Amino acid sequence: MIIAIDGPSGAGKSTVSKAVARKLGFSCLDTGAMYRSIAWFALREGVELSDAASLGVIARAKEISFGLTPGDPLPSKVYIDGIDVTRDIRTARIDKAVSAVAAHPSVREALVMQQQRIGANGNYVVEGRDIGTAVFPHAEVKVFLTASDEQRALRRLRQNKRRGIGSTDYEEVLSDIKARDRFDSSRAASPLKPAEDAVLLDSSTLSIDEVVGSICDLAQEKA
Ligand code: C5P
Repeated sequence: MIIAIDGPSGAGKSTVSKAVARKLGFSCLDTGAMYRSIAWFALREGVELSDAASLGVIARAKEISFGLTPGDPLPSKVYIDGIDVTRDIRTARIDKAVSAVAAHPSVREALVMQQQRIGANGNYVVEGRDIGTAVFPHAEVKVFLTASDEQRALRRLRQNKRRGIGSTDYEEVLSDIKARDRFDSSRAASPLKPAEDAVLLDSSTLSIDEVVGSICDLAQEKA
């Protein structure tokens, strides 16, 4: 079974995906981490973010993999080409660069293939922007998770402070996530939008437990 969880930045997708995966005994796939890894590699190599051909070559050639940390059954480490980029892909620099990288069809085609290959191996909760529309259009459960801009900025701010990475200035975080969502929603290739058959959940009016409970109920109906 595939549970697709799409939505804008900071809506709580990662927290919800992990909690659902734990409850149901599923694996988890964070597709945003894959786009972030390509952006990180491109910046390291000095590749222009507008250079679709070179970015496509990187996305096709570099293996992105996920690893475990002791005591956690869900993957929390991210590697590109064997390099641990878990922390480095969460910086403000990558926040600002990633949407431009993710807008190129050459990059998307390569990563979507990898995502479909991974998801074919069992029961997965997959989070991203285009999971229900493009990556797994036949997913058994599709959820579009939203929240108000202010709630999303606050959630991202708290996450940045906890991790000790990324901006800790509320106004900067708010304007960054708004800019990223505008860009992600207006791009030509697989823009951020709910699938026609997605269930819309708003985490500003529901607690995380309620969101998780609703998704588990949806999964059980399909089991
Ligand atoms: O989910 P996260 O905030 O880590 O995603 C980072 C960026 O990667 C998004 O803003 C978007 O540009 C891109 N992305 C995407 N498609 C996905 C997942 C992420 O375009 N399925």
